[in-house]
Amino acid sequence: MMNFLSVEDFSKSQIEEIFKIADELKEGKCELALKPGAIAVLLFEKPSTRTRISFEVAMAQLGGNYIYIDPVTTQLSRGETWSDTAKVLSSYVDFIICRLYRHETLLEIAKSSTVPVINALTDQEHPAQALGDLYTIRESKGRLKGLKMALFGDTANNTFNSLMIAGAMMGMEIALIGPKANVPNVKFVSKAKEYGIVKLFDDLEEGVEGSDVLYTDTFVSMGEEAEADLRRKLFMPYQINKKVLEMADSKAVVMHPLPAHRGEEITGDVLDGKQSIAFEQAKNKLLIEKAIVLYIAGQES
Ligand code: CP
Ligand code: NVA
Repeated sequence: MMNFLSVEDFSKSQIEEIFKIADELKEGKCELALKPGAIAVLLFEKPSTRTRISFEVAMAQLGGNYIYIDPVTTQLSRGETWSDTAKVLSSYVDFIICRLYRHETLLEIAKSSTVPVINALTDQEHPAQALGDLYTIRESKGRLKGLKMALFGDTANNTFNSLMIAGAMMGMEIALIGPKANVPNVKFVSKAKEYGIVKLFDDLEEGVEGSDVLYTDTFVSMGEEAEADLRRKLFMPYQINKKVLEMADSKAVVMHPLPAHRGEEITGDVLDGKQSIAFEQAKNKLLIEKAIVLYIAGQES
């Protein structure tokens, strides 16, 4: 049975196959289908706008159905284990899609589930986001191989952990640009280095040089609210603004998984500017999630 817990669960050729399914869906030529009435349960501990709604719409448009669950309303809140919960839910539904605080919880769920489990964000990874983002870059630049992607600010966050591995896997060069005091996660950096070039910079200008993609994410990820002030101060010098854009190639694109905090990790003029493809990224989440679900379903049959 195939799970999608980490970007590493798919090889380069599997990612290419998923991109091909997304292309076919876009052109209305996709012949893959879900089994009629397939149901996904969305088990979300954290808030979500894009990922929740796009997975829900994806299931509905593919002829399936979905059930959204806030764990607080279940027996999890009264001490039932994740493992027992997963065992039971997987006896009713065809997919379990999770957004969780701890990646360990996701692993526990996957261990007990008898149906595919899909990561919709944990503290460590955001793999479906990474695939959608790479698909968006491929659409905008016509290729991935040989492009340089600069990741700004909190280089130790979930979005970047997934993106640096998937990007390197697809032949991109990765620059992690952030303060020395915030060390990127060694596990993800060394994995990414197995696939390609990954460089760390605390000097923004040096890191930006030659970049085709400038990508930032919030300075305060969900679950880090207690350190919000400290993090904003630490990462502020790495804000993507007009000055940073001027240092980059005029054809460089600006990306953000959203939600954006205008005036923090990115300025509003840059987010709304002509080099920004952040809203294309958001739009493509629906397409790539359909492709992921169809690909995984295809492995089951
Ligand atoms: N990019 C993203 O995952 O957004 P949501 O938190 O709104 O799902
Ligand atoms: N790093 C962010 C991503 C949100 C989509 C977070 O975890 O809050």
